[in-house]
Amino acid sequence: MSVAKILKTMEYGPAPESRSEADAWLRSHKKTLAPFIGGKFTPVKKATTFATRNPATGEKLASITDCSGADVNAAVKAARKAQPGWQALGGHGRAKFLYAIARLMQKHARMFAVLETLDNGKPIRESRDIDIPLAIRHFYHHAGWAQLFDSEFPGQAPHGVVGQIIPWNFPLLMLAWKIAPALATGNTVVLKPAEYTSLTALRFAELCREAGLPDGVVNIVTGDGKCGEMIVTHPGIDKIAFTGSTDVGRMIREKTAGTGKKLSLELGGKSPFIIFEDADIDSAIEGVVDAIWFNQGQVCCAGSRLLVQEGIADKVVKKLKNRMGKLRLGDPLDKCIDMGAIIDKSQLMRITKLVKQGVEDGAELWQPKASLPDKGCFYPPSLMTGVEPSMIIAQEEIFGPVLVTTTFRTPDEAVTLANNTRYGLAASIWSENINLALDVAPLIKAGVVWINCTNQFDAAVGFGGYRESGFGREGGREGLSEYMVPASEKGSKPLAKSVARKGKSSASTKPIIDQTAKFYIGGKQARPDGGYSLPVFGPDGQTIGLVGDGNRKDIRNAVEAAAKAQGWSKTTGHNRAQILYYIAENLSARSDEFAQRLIDMTGESAEQAALEVEASISRLFSYGAWADKYEGTVHSPPLRGVALAMNEPVGIIGMACPDQFPLLGLISLMAPAIAMGNRTVLIPSNAHPLSATDFYQVLETSDVPGGVVNLIAGDCSSLIKVLAEHDQVDAVWSFGSAEDSKVVEAASAHTIKRSWVNYGRDRDWLNVERGEGREFLSHATEVKNIWIPYGE
Ligand code: NAI
Repeated sequence: MSVAKILKTMEYGPAPESRSEADAWLRSHKKTLAPFIGGKFTPVKKATTFATRNPATGEKLASITDCSGADVNAAVKAARKAQPGWQALGGHGRAKFLYAIARLMQKHARMFAVLETLDNGKPIRESRDIDIPLAIRHFYHHAGWAQLFDSEFPGQAPHGVVGQIIPWNFPLLMLAWKIAPALATGNTVVLKPAEYTSLTALRFAELCREAGLPDGVVNIVTGDGKCGEMIVTHPGIDKIAFTGSTDVGRMIREKTAGTGKKLSLELGGKSPFIIFEDADIDSAIEGVVDAIWFNQGQVCCAGSRLLVQEGIADKVVKKLKNRMGKLRLGDPLDKCIDMGAIIDKSQLMRITKLVKQGVEDGAELWQPKASLPDKGCFYPPSLMTGVEPSMIIAQEEIFGPVLVTTTFRTPDEAVTLANNTRYGLAASIWSENINLALDVAPLIKAGVVWINCTNQFDAAVGFGGYRESGFGREGGREGLSEYMVPASEKGSKPLAKSVARKGKSSASTKPIIDQTAKFYIGGKQARPDGGYSLPVFGPDGQTIGLVGDGNRKDIRNAVEAAAKAQGWSKTTGHNRAQILYYIAENLSARSDEFAQRLIDMTGESAEQAALEVEASISRLFSYGAWADKYEGTVHSPPLRGVALAMNEPVGIIGMACPDQFPLLGLISLMAPAIAMGNRTVLIPSNAHPLSATDFYQVLETSDVPGGVVNLIAGDCSSLIKVLAEHDQVDAVWSFGSAEDSKVVEAASAHTIKRSWVNYGRDRDWLNVERGEGREFLSHATEVKNIWIPYGE
């Protein structure tokens, strides 16, 4: 046989990684693992257990405790006890522990990789070269943030005890994404790994003990969704961080509504992978392999929707099939394997069912001929062509090695197709024309965009979604901020009493009369749809005016007007700054009139009213200043290239303004939002709405484009609910009662909307540190990270 022939037919021989160290560790625990609570493995008397299995073979690896409510209580108690001491250690004190953990993980990296592969079924190549090194990098990076915490984040405090629930697709990596920033900022944690993959989390707990981490700082409880729910609803937990399915994320949003628990959600995706005609096709094909067959496609940001420009579609599909035929599928511990096992039979069934549905709907399925191992959960790499954007397989997250393809003609069409999803986690764009790629990247609604690359991650670069992919970021400065809160907010008091709409008139249902202050929609004054008005009372209970009583239809009109004002999001910061200064100038020209209105509505002193008007003008100036200064960051991740963290407007923000400081409260919310390019629908103070209805006269004379600011008065509680439920509204802010906060958080669960609420607590709007600045700007922006590699 000739050498050429040998090279052609040469098969890879098996190259299995040894599992002896992992087996020895399992044996050392008698293959029965207890939860890790208060610094030790705490066997639970008469514990119920469940098996954790190797998905590639079905072999039982160990018994895991199904933690009860008592176990979760004990873990929360231990975390609570440890928290003040952990915070008091200060940044440097915490940095030393995080560094020690990183070093120990590095020392045991190979064992972690094998254990992960055994428990999860992913190829050892991936756990060894991606999952574990990235997890280690997270601890190193956050050891650095801990060190810098005191100097970089003055005035910030940890939440306290954080409950963290993670999925099975990247068990140790997700643990690192959650635990490292929480500890760096002085929180203590109760973490629950997914029921299929608890092993590396428990091995990690052991390392915490070896690193001398104080007892109770990290607690690991094990179990399924029931245990997760106990964490979510536990009153002793201050913040929940969740990664997993959108449905469970939505339930968590509902369950935590109004409790004051902070929440970050990293959910599903259906990310587009866009290949333009001028792309380097061979590189793009390798990109597709990494996008959808990495971790058997069980990746939240998997490039699962291939969008190919029409002219090259046939060529791409042909090359792709050829490449798919060469993917090696089998024993995940084999170093030559490209694709391992699916996590569990239930997941395998879900994939099979969705693919069948796709075929029934008319898509064409192609799979390479290679045979599958006869035991274990395996699914072949699959390509579906002829997919219509409305098909279930083009909309639902399959979470398996299945790529669906659609073609497009123009860049505009590519963007429309890419955004035709309820998700918004990631996107990958392939073109040799960097101008085109950088033009398209900002148009895609996704938290991460990879140009000519895919599935790149780094601890310094934020990761997280738009829309139903969740809210909050992990990694980088923005990820860290999820784990802290202004110290002054922690000390804030509940609002003394809500300023009710009180008075002697009973005019509330009388038909509208001409002096009624109107709404402001799309740059024009508008009468309320229902034709009814509400009385506004002065401090002595006498009627001092009337405002329209807004309803669902008024809100709908206002949101429509805001949607049409998209151009505002594309204007430059320089232009927006000028308009904010102009609003300030026009308000200043009418300061006396605005001060008098405040006195008439609230009975406050002339001095106090003048102070509020002056502070409102100053606040407009502040955001005029910020409009072109709240910029992004250029990250230097460990690749030849950069990642641009760009601050983008959130979109349309609905806002309920506070009763305290009727003018300043409104401006403090509106100004940062419009400075960052958002469009707003504002519901003015319930009790004192006339400052807002006067204010639209200022807006009218200040060149604010129609639809950027819309004002609807009425019953604040019911109107903000309508905004929270509205599909086209991207975020809701509420600074009313505690009940309003609850309603907003619950109603926003439907579309996993971002919300920012006060839980009925007071805020000193006059105080510049509490009333303006970065906290407001971060709520008014989404961070999009665009990865741009260099080189030919
Ligand atoms: P899941 O969302 O049920 O599980 C994720 C984590 O949440 C696990 O630790 C689980 O025990 C926990 N959990 C489940 N129900 C809970 C509840 N009611 N309260 C609190 N915690 C709860 O995901 P599952 O069932 O494992 O996978 C189903 C689908 O979810 C997948 O097919 C995939 O589409 C999606 N998924 C997305 C992930 C992502 O990274 N975005 C990760 C895992 C799953």
